[in-house]
Amino acid sequence: MPVITNIQDLKRIYERRVPRMFYDYAESGSWTEQTFRDNTSDFDKIRLRQRVAVDMAGRSTASQMIGQDVAMPVALAPVGLTGMQSADGEIKAARAAEAFGVPFTLSTMSINSIEEVAEATTKPFWFQLYTMKDEDYVSRLIQRAKDANCSALVITLDLQILGQRHKDLKNGLSAPPKLTPRTIANLMTKWAWGIEMLGAKRRDFGNIVGHVQGVSDTSQLGAWTAEQFDPSLDWGKVQKLMDMWDGKVILKGILDEDDARMAAKLGADAIVVSNHGGRQLDGALSSIRMLPRIMDAVGDSIEVHLDSGIRSGQDVLKALALGATGTMIGRAFVYGLGAMGQQGVTTALNVIHKELDTTMALCGQKSVRDLGRHNLLIPSDFEGHWQQ
Ligand code: GLV
Repeated sequence: MPVITNIQDLKRIYERRVPRMFYDYAESGSWTEQTFRDNTSDFDKIRLRQRVAVDMAGRSTASQMIGQDVAMPVALAPVGLTGMQSADGEIKAARAAEAFGVPFTLSTMSINSIEEVAEATTKPFWFQLYTMKDEDYVSRLIQRAKDANCSALVITLDLQILGQRHKDLKNGLSAPPKLTPRTIANLMTKWAWGIEMLGAKRRDFGNIVGHVQGVSDTSQLGAWTAEQFDPSLDWGKVQKLMDMWDGKVILKGILDEDDARMAAKLGADAIVVSNHGGRQLDGALSSIRMLPRIMDAVGDSIEVHLDSGIRSGQDVLKALALGATGTMIGRAFVYGLGAMGQQGVTTALNVIHKELDTTMALCGQKSVRDLGRHNLLIPSDFEGHWQQ
Protein backbone atom coordinates (compact mmCIF):
# COMPACT_ATOMS: atom_id res chain seq x y z
CA MET A 1 0.00 0.00 0.00
CA PRO A 2 1.43 3.44 -0.87
CA VAL A 3 1.94 5.95 1.93
CA ILE A 4 -0.93 8.41 1.85
CA THR A 5 -0.11 11.88 3.10
CA ASN A 6 -2.66 14.11 1.36
CA ILE A 7 -5.99 14.14 -0.49
CA GLN A 8 -4.34 14.13 -3.93
CA ASP A 9 -2.75 10.75 -3.10
CA LEU A 10 -6.24 9.34 -2.53
CA LYS A 11 -7.44 10.89 -5.79
CA ARG A 12 -4.74 9.10 -7.79
CA ILE A 13 -5.72 5.70 -6.36
CA TYR A 14 -9.41 6.52 -6.80
CA GLU A 15 -8.91 7.32 -10.49
CA ARG A 16 -7.28 3.94 -11.09
CA ARG A 17 -9.86 1.93 -9.16
CA VAL A 18 -13.31 3.28 -10.08
CA PRO A 19 -15.04 3.07 -13.50
CA ARG A 20 -14.46 6.16 -15.62
CA MET A 21 -18.16 7.08 -15.65
CA PHE A 22 -18.26 7.56 -11.86
CA TYR A 23 -14.84 9.20 -11.64
CA ASP A 24 -15.97 11.68 -14.32
CA TYR A 25 -19.24 12.27 -12.47
CA ALA A 26 -17.39 13.35 -9.33
CA GLU A 27 -14.63 15.20 -11.12
CA SER A 28 -16.77 17.37 -13.39
CA GLY A 29 -17.99 20.92 -13.25
CA SER A 30 -20.68 22.26 -15.55
CA TRP A 31 -20.05 23.69 -19.04
CA THR A 32 -16.56 25.25 -19.27
CA GLU A 33 -15.74 24.27 -15.66
CA GLN A 34 -14.55 27.80 -14.89
CA THR A 35 -16.31 27.94 -11.52
CA PHE A 36 -15.15 24.40 -10.72
CA ARG A 37 -11.53 25.52 -11.26
CA ASP A 38 -11.96 28.84 -9.43
CA ASN A 39 -13.29 27.03 -6.35
CA THR A 40 -9.85 25.57 -5.69
CA SER A 41 -7.58 28.23 -7.21
CA ASP A 42 -9.22 31.02 -5.17
CA PHE A 43 -8.33 29.20 -1.95
CA ASP A 44 -4.70 29.30 -3.10
CA LYS A 45 -4.82 33.11 -3.41
CA ILE A 46 -5.41 33.52 0.32
CA ARG A 47 -2.26 33.27 2.44
CA LEU A 48 -1.71 32.64 6.13
CA ARG A 49 0.01 34.73 8.79
CA GLN A 50 2.73 32.80 10.58
CA ARG A 51 2.91 33.53 14.31
CA VAL A 52 5.52 32.22 16.77
CA ALA A 53 6.18 31.80 20.48
CA VAL A 54 2.54 31.11 21.31
CA ASP A 55 1.80 28.23 23.72
CA MET A 56 0.29 25.51 21.51
CA ALA A 57 -0.11 22.75 24.08
CA GLY A 58 -3.61 21.34 24.46
CA ARG A 59 -5.06 22.87 21.30
CA SER A 60 -8.35 21.66 19.82
CA THR A 61 -10.20 21.45 16.54
CA ALA A 62 -13.45 20.56 18.33
CA SER A 63 -16.40 22.84 17.73
CA GLN A 64 -20.14 22.80 17.07
CA MET A 65 -22.24 22.88 13.90
CA ILE A 66 -25.94 23.72 14.37
CA GLY A 67 -25.47 23.08 18.07
CA GLN A 68 -24.06 19.57 17.54
CA ASP A 69 -20.60 18.69 18.83
CA VAL A 70 -18.06 17.97 16.07
CA ALA A 71 -14.46 16.74 16.34
CA MET A 72 -13.65 19.35 13.68
CA PRO A 73 -16.04 21.63 11.79
CA VAL A 74 -16.05 19.53 8.62
CA ALA A 75 -19.22 17.65 7.62
CA LEU A 76 -19.46 15.14 4.79
CA ALA A 77 -21.51 16.82 2.05
CA PRO A 78 -24.39 15.11 0.30
CA VAL A 79 -23.03 13.47 -2.87
CA GLY A 80 -25.25 11.66 -5.37
CA LEU A 81 -24.29 8.12 -6.44
CA THR A 82 -21.83 7.68 -3.57
CA GLY A 83 -22.71 3.98 -3.53
CA MET A 84 -21.38 3.68 -7.08
CA GLN A 85 -17.92 4.89 -6.03
CA SER A 86 -17.66 1.92 -3.68
CA ALA A 87 -20.18 -0.82 -2.83
CA ASP A 88 -22.56 0.46 -0.12
CA GLY A 89 -20.58 3.70 -0.19
CA GLU A 90 -23.08 5.73 1.81
CA ILE A 91 -22.97 3.21 4.65
CA LYS A 92 -19.16 3.19 4.62
CA ALA A 93 -18.93 7.00 4.57
CA ALA A 94 -21.54 7.37 7.31
CA ARG A 95 -19.69 4.89 9.51
CA ALA A 96 -16.37 6.66 8.98
CA ALA A 97 -17.95 10.03 9.80
CA GLU A 98 -19.62 8.62 12.91
CA ALA A 99 -16.38 7.11 14.21
CA PHE A 100 -14.50 10.35 13.55
CA GLY A 101 -17.15 12.55 15.14
CA VAL A 102 -18.31 14.65 12.19
CA PRO A 103 -21.76 14.82 10.55
CA PHE A 104 -22.61 12.70 7.51
CA THR A 105 -25.21 13.99 5.03
CA LEU A 106 -27.16 11.47 2.98
CA SER A 107 -28.17 12.70 -0.47
CA THR A 108 -31.66 12.17 -1.89
CA MET A 109 -29.80 10.75 -4.91
CA SER A 110 -27.92 8.20 -2.83
CA ILE A 111 -27.66 4.53 -3.64
CA ASN A 112 -28.15 3.20 -0.06
CA SER A 113 -31.55 4.26 1.26
CA ILE A 114 -32.23 6.34 4.37
CA GLU A 115 -33.35 3.17 6.16
CA GLU A 116 -30.23 1.20 5.18
CA VAL A 117 -27.91 3.92 6.44
CA ALA A 118 -29.92 4.32 9.67
CA GLU A 119 -29.72 0.59 10.30
CA ALA A 120 -25.95 0.53 9.75
CA THR A 121 -25.15 3.48 12.04
CA THR A 122 -25.77 4.39 15.67
CA LYS A 123 -25.79 8.19 15.61
CA PRO A 124 -28.20 10.49 13.74
CA PHE A 125 -27.07 11.73 10.34
CA TRP A 126 -28.29 14.68 8.22
CA PHE A 127 -30.62 14.16 5.27
CA GLN A 128 -30.39 16.26 2.10
CA LEU A 129 -33.62 16.96 0.26
CA TYR A 130 -34.22 17.70 -3.38
CA THR A 131 -37.69 18.98 -4.01
CA MET A 132 -39.60 16.95 -6.54
CA LYS A 133 -42.79 17.76 -8.42
CA ASP A 134 -44.52 14.84 -6.68
CA GLU A 135 -45.51 16.47 -3.36
CA ASP A 136 -46.74 13.23 -1.94
CA TYR A 137 -43.34 11.62 -2.55
CA VAL A 138 -41.58 14.60 -0.93
CA SER A 139 -43.71 14.43 2.19
CA ARG A 140 -43.12 10.67 2.47
CA LEU A 141 -39.39 11.24 2.01
CA ILE A 142 -39.40 13.80 4.81
CA GLN A 143 -41.32 11.38 7.01
CA ARG A 144 -38.77 8.63 6.24
CA ALA A 145 -35.96 10.96 7.33
CA LYS A 146 -37.87 11.75 10.55
CA ASP A 147 -38.48 8.06 11.21
CA ALA A 148 -34.73 7.45 10.73
CA ASN A 149 -34.07 10.07 13.42
CA CYS A 150 -32.09 12.37 11.08
CA SER A 151 -30.89 15.37 13.05
CA ALA A 152 -31.05 17.99 10.28
CA LEU A 153 -32.76 18.51 6.95
CA VAL A 154 -30.41 20.01 4.37
CA ILE A 155 -32.56 21.54 1.63
CA THR A 156 -30.60 22.08 -1.59
CA LEU A 157 -31.72 25.21 -3.40
CA ASP A 158 -29.34 25.44 -6.34
CA LEU A 159 -30.49 22.47 -8.38
CA GLN A 160 -34.00 23.09 -9.63
CA ILE A 161 -32.62 22.15 -13.00
CA LEU A 162 -29.37 20.34 -13.67
CA GLY A 163 -26.31 22.26 -14.88
CA GLN A 164 -24.92 20.39 -17.88
CA ARG A 165 -21.80 18.33 -17.34
CA HIS A 166 -20.57 17.26 -20.75
CA LYS A 167 -18.87 14.06 -19.64
CA ASP A 168 -21.98 12.66 -17.94
CA LEU A 169 -23.93 13.00 -21.16
CA LYS A 170 -21.16 11.46 -23.23
CA ASN A 171 -20.70 8.61 -20.74
CA GLY A 172 -24.46 7.93 -20.50
CA LEU A 173 -24.13 8.17 -16.69
CA SER A 174 -26.48 5.72 -14.99
CA ALA A 175 -26.71 3.57 -11.89
CA PRO A 176 -25.98 0.74 -12.37
CA PRO A 177 -23.87 1.46 -15.48
CA LYS A 178 -25.53 0.51 -18.77
CA LEU A 179 -23.50 -2.19 -20.46
CA THR A 180 -22.30 -0.75 -23.74
CA PRO A 181 -19.09 -1.95 -25.46
CA ARG A 182 -17.31 1.14 -24.07
CA THR A 183 -18.44 0.68 -20.44
CA ILE A 184 -17.74 -3.08 -20.59
CA ALA A 185 -14.20 -2.37 -21.83
CA ASN A 186 -13.67 0.08 -18.98
CA LEU A 187 -15.29 -2.16 -16.34
CA MET A 188 -12.96 -5.00 -17.29
CA THR A 189 -10.04 -2.91 -16.11
CA LYS A 190 -11.81 -2.20 -12.79
CA TRP A 191 -12.33 -5.79 -11.66
CA ALA A 192 -11.75 -5.15 -7.92
CA TRP A 193 -14.52 -2.51 -7.98
CA GLY A 194 -16.78 -4.92 -9.90
CA ILE A 195 -16.28 -7.88 -7.57
CA GLU A 196 -17.01 -5.69 -4.55
CA MET A 197 -20.08 -4.25 -6.26
CA LEU A 198 -21.56 -7.73 -6.82
CA GLY A 199 -21.96 -7.99 -3.04
CA ALA A 200 -23.53 -4.55 -2.55
CA LYS A 201 -26.89 -4.24 -0.80
CA ARG A 202 -27.98 -1.97 -3.62
CA ARG A 203 -27.02 -0.73 -7.08
CA ASP A 204 -29.88 1.67 -7.83
CA PHE A 205 -31.31 4.82 -6.19
CA GLY A 206 -32.46 3.55 -2.80
CA ASN A 207 -34.55 6.58 -1.82
CA ILE A 208 -36.44 6.53 -5.08
CA VAL A 209 -36.82 3.05 -6.57
CA GLY A 210 -39.99 1.51 -5.20
CA HIS A 211 -41.13 4.83 -3.68
CA VAL A 212 -42.17 6.82 -6.76
CA GLN A 213 -45.12 5.86 -8.88
CA GLY A 214 -45.18 6.07 -12.65
CA VAL A 215 -41.44 6.47 -13.12
CA SER A 216 -40.15 3.69 -15.29
CA ASP A 217 -36.43 4.39 -15.41
CA THR A 218 -34.62 6.04 -12.53
CA SER A 219 -31.22 4.81 -13.63
CA GLN A 220 -30.29 7.91 -15.61
CA LEU A 221 -29.74 10.78 -13.24
CA GLY A 222 -29.95 13.49 -15.89
CA ALA A 223 -33.19 12.31 -17.44
CA TRP A 224 -34.81 11.66 -14.09
CA THR A 225 -33.80 15.06 -12.76
CA ALA A 226 -35.21 16.82 -15.81
CA GLU A 227 -38.51 14.98 -15.38
CA GLN A 228 -38.93 15.03 -11.60
CA PHE A 229 -37.17 17.99 -9.98
CA ASP A 230 -39.46 20.89 -9.14
CA PRO A 231 -38.55 23.94 -11.26
CA SER A 232 -41.17 26.01 -9.42
CA LEU A 233 -39.40 25.86 -6.04
CA ASP A 234 -39.60 29.31 -4.42
CA TRP A 235 -39.19 30.76 -0.92
CA GLY A 236 -42.84 30.01 -0.09
CA LYS A 237 -42.26 26.34 -0.81
CA VAL A 238 -39.01 26.40 1.16
CA GLN A 239 -40.94 27.74 4.15
CA LYS A 240 -43.50 24.92 3.79
CA LEU A 241 -40.75 22.30 3.72
CA MET A 242 -39.19 23.84 6.83
CA ASP A 243 -42.58 23.70 8.59
CA MET A 244 -43.04 20.06 7.55
CA TRP A 245 -39.66 19.13 8.99
CA ASP A 246 -40.06 21.02 12.23
CA GLY A 247 -36.42 20.48 13.26
CA LYS A 248 -32.97 21.81 12.37
CA VAL A 249 -32.82 23.08 8.79
CA ILE A 250 -29.78 23.93 6.68
CA LEU A 251 -30.35 25.74 3.37
CA LYS A 252 -27.66 24.71 0.93
CA GLY A 253 -26.59 26.41 -2.29
CA ILE A 254 -26.64 30.07 -1.22
CA LEU A 255 -24.17 32.26 -3.13
CA ASP A 256 -25.74 35.71 -2.96
CA GLU A 257 -26.15 38.26 -0.16
CA ASP A 258 -29.89 38.74 -0.78
CA ASP A 259 -30.56 35.01 -0.70
CA ALA A 260 -28.52 34.69 2.49
CA ARG A 261 -30.59 37.43 4.15
CA MET A 262 -33.78 35.68 3.02
CA ALA A 263 -32.62 32.37 4.51
CA ALA A 264 -31.92 34.13 7.81
CA LYS A 265 -35.34 35.80 7.71
CA LEU A 266 -37.04 32.44 7.23
CA GLY A 267 -35.38 31.22 10.42
CA ALA A 268 -33.17 28.47 8.98
CA ASP A 269 -30.50 27.24 11.40
CA ALA A 270 -27.67 27.53 8.88
CA ILE A 271 -26.85 28.18 5.25
CA VAL A 272 -24.21 26.49 3.15
CA VAL A 273 -22.43 28.99 0.93
CA SER A 274 -21.99 26.78 -2.10
CA ASN A 275 -22.02 26.68 -5.89
CA HIS A 276 -22.57 22.92 -5.82
CA GLY A 277 -18.89 22.22 -6.38
CA GLY A 278 -18.96 24.20 -9.62
CA ARG A 279 -21.53 21.77 -11.02
CA GLN A 280 -24.43 24.17 -11.54
CA LEU A 281 -24.02 27.84 -12.59
CA ASP A 282 -20.77 27.95 -14.51
CA GLY A 283 -19.49 31.52 -14.35
CA ALA A 284 -20.54 32.06 -10.73
CA LEU A 285 -17.81 33.22 -8.36
CA SER A 286 -16.16 30.69 -6.08
CA SER A 287 -17.74 30.06 -2.68
CA ILE A 288 -14.68 31.29 -0.81
CA ARG A 289 -14.70 34.58 -2.72
CA MET A 290 -18.39 35.12 -1.97
CA LEU A 291 -18.07 34.22 1.71
CA PRO A 292 -16.89 37.65 3.01
CA ARG A 293 -19.77 39.44 1.29
CA ILE A 294 -22.28 36.99 2.69
CA MET A 295 -20.81 37.30 6.20
CA ASP A 296 -21.12 41.08 5.94
CA ALA A 297 -24.75 40.69 4.87
CA VAL A 298 -25.93 38.28 7.56
CA GLY A 299 -23.59 38.95 10.49
CA ASP A 300 -24.57 36.75 13.40
CA SER A 301 -28.18 36.31 12.30
CA ILE A 302 -27.58 32.81 10.90
CA GLU A 303 -24.84 30.18 11.09
CA VAL A 304 -22.80 30.00 7.89
CA HIS A 305 -21.14 26.89 6.47
CA LEU A 306 -19.13 26.68 3.24
CA ASP A 307 -18.45 24.03 0.64
CA SER A 308 -17.00 23.87 -2.92
CA GLY A 309 -13.26 23.65 -3.33
CA ILE A 310 -12.09 22.33 0.06
CA ARG A 311 -9.31 19.79 -0.44
CA SER A 312 -7.18 20.38 2.66
CA GLY A 313 -7.15 21.45 6.29
CA GLN A 314 -5.60 24.74 5.17
CA ASP A 315 -8.72 25.36 3.06
CA VAL A 316 -10.92 24.60 6.07
CA LEU A 317 -8.92 27.06 8.16
CA LYS A 318 -9.29 29.80 5.53
CA ALA A 319 -13.08 29.36 5.40
CA LEU A 320 -13.33 29.46 9.19
CA ALA A 321 -11.05 32.50 9.39
CA LEU A 322 -13.34 34.30 6.93
CA GLY A 323 -16.28 33.72 9.24
CA ALA A 324 -17.77 30.30 8.49
CA THR A 325 -18.71 28.17 11.51
CA GLY A 326 -18.37 24.96 9.55
CA THR A 327 -17.44 23.46 6.21
CA MET A 328 -18.48 20.53 4.03
CA ILE A 329 -16.29 18.26 1.93
CA GLY A 330 -17.62 16.29 -1.05
CA ARG A 331 -14.93 15.24 -3.51
CA ALA A 332 -12.27 15.07 -0.80
CA PHE A 333 -14.09 12.19 0.91
CA VAL A 334 -15.27 10.58 -2.34
CA TYR A 335 -11.62 10.20 -3.44
CA GLY A 336 -10.93 8.32 -0.22
CA LEU A 337 -14.05 6.19 -0.53
CA GLY A 338 -13.34 5.20 -4.13
CA ALA A 339 -9.70 4.50 -3.31
CA MET A 340 -10.08 2.44 -0.13
CA GLY A 341 -13.71 2.25 1.03
CA GLN A 342 -14.50 3.16 4.64
CA GLN A 343 -10.80 3.23 5.54
CA GLY A 344 -10.25 5.75 2.74
CA VAL A 345 -12.89 8.11 4.14
CA THR A 346 -11.27 7.81 7.56
CA THR A 347 -7.90 8.54 5.93
CA ALA A 348 -9.32 11.63 4.19
CA LEU A 349 -10.70 12.89 7.51
CA ASN A 350 -7.39 12.18 9.28
CA VAL A 351 -5.43 14.00 6.58
CA ILE A 352 -7.65 17.08 6.77
CA HIS A 353 -7.63 17.01 10.57
CA LYS A 354 -3.86 16.85 10.75
CA GLU A 355 -3.48 19.69 8.26
CA LEU A 356 -6.02 21.81 10.13
CA ASP A 357 -4.45 21.14 13.53
CA THR A 358 -0.87 21.82 12.40
CA THR A 359 -1.76 24.88 10.36
CA MET A 360 -3.80 26.31 13.23
CA ALA A 361 -0.81 25.86 15.54
CA LEU A 362 1.61 27.49 13.10
CA CYS A 363 -0.80 30.42 12.81
CA GLY A 364 -0.63 30.79 16.59
CA GLN A 365 -4.19 29.67 17.34
CA LYS A 366 -5.18 27.13 19.97
CA SER A 367 -8.79 26.62 18.91
CA VAL A 368 -10.71 26.64 15.64
CA ARG A 369 -13.21 28.90 17.38
CA ASP A 370 -10.62 31.68 17.66
CA LEU A 371 -9.72 31.81 13.97
CA GLY A 372 -10.39 35.09 12.24
CA ARG A 373 -9.25 37.54 9.59
CA HIS A 374 -6.21 38.26 11.75
CA ASN A 375 -4.87 34.87 10.58
CA LEU A 376 -5.05 35.71 6.88
CA LEU A 377 -3.30 37.79 4.27
CA ILE A 378 -5.66 38.51 1.41
CA PRO A 379 -4.83 40.29 -1.87
CA SER A 380 -6.45 43.71 -2.01
CA ASP A 381 -8.62 42.85 -5.01
CA PHE A 382 -9.87 39.53 -3.61
CA GLU A 383 -13.27 40.86 -2.62
CA GLY A 384 -13.59 44.16 -4.40
CA HIS A 385 -12.57 43.17 -7.91
CA TRP A 386 -15.93 41.82 -8.98
CA GLN A 387 -18.64 44.48 -8.93
CA GLN A 388 -22.26 44.32 -9.96
C1 GLV B 1 -26.30 16.26 -7.92
O1 GLV B 1 -26.44 16.70 -6.83
C2 GLV B 1 -25.16 16.48 -8.74
O2 GLV B 1 -24.47 17.49 -8.55
O3 GLV B 1 -24.93 15.64 -9.61
